[in-house]
Amino acid sequence: MAAQEKHPSAGAPQKGAEAPAPLHVAVVMDGNGRWAKQRGLPRSLGHRAGVEALKRTVEAAPKLNIRWLTVFGFSTENWSRPATEVAELMALPKRYFESDIVRLEREGVRVRVIGRRQGLSKELVKIIDDAQARTAHNDRFFLNVAFNYGGQADIADAARRFAEDVAAGRAEPSDLTEARFQGYLATADSPPPDLIIRPSGEQRLSNFLLWEAAYAELVFQDVLWPDYGEEHLKAALQAFAARDRRYGAVVADDVLAAG
Ligand code: FPP
Repeated sequence: MAAQEKHPSAGAPQKGAEAPAPLHVAVVMDGNGRWAKQRGLPRSLGHRAGVEALKRTVEAAPKLNIRWLTVFGFSTENWSRPATEVAELMALPKRYFESDIVRLEREGVRVRVIGRRQGLSKELVKIIDDAQARTAHNDRFFLNVAFNYGGQADIADAARRFAEDVAAGRAEPSDLTEARFQGYLATADSPPPDLIIRPSGEQRLSNFLLWEAAYAELVFQDVLWPDYGEEHLKAALQAFAARDRRYGAVVADDVLAAG
């Protein structure tokens, strides 16, 4: 699918035009550890509560006219956490897909896990492959789970793949445009995110969707991820609707006024 070409975000909007709903929302699911700490619980229970919040969000998103949801489940930097916590985080996709794959399949959700497979156990890779295969025919809603993902790593991997194509005679260095490069990224099949949400009060991207975030609106919310639900998503969409997206251009009326 040439998602980039179809996406309505191409081109500057007209002044006064109604703000379109964000088609693609991305979320940094942050605050599991603090949520657990506040309750005197181990961090692992915060992550498990985070899986429940993910289920609520996946259920709410299509009702709010969102078509793509990309969530950050494990970053390439998360390997530096204590081994016990890494093991807990590695168990989350299994927990999520075992409990929800039937519903995802039935409700038309296509699952895609983006990020490096290297470093993941054979069992986990099989769980991911199965979830993707079982939902590959769906097209009502698209769920990208970023797992062992880093924006810089993905850009480096994309550059390596292009260099390999050049070395093999399949491409010329002069072929490389932004659109062509985007096709080498893990998110090649998705439009760029319109809105990136980060709960938990932190205000940074933390290596999430660095290339794709070029024109995303950022919304930061003071709620810890395990408490996240439909009302928080609605509030983020309201904040998004109030934004003036110009994509580096000026709106048509202002061009006339300046002329
Ligand atoms: C960051 O919070 C969160 C993570 C590293 C894990 C995110 C995973 C989930 C929400 C579960 C769903 C995941 C999948 C793959 C199905 P943190 O631990 O850094 O929280 P803190 O900043 O409060 O310590």
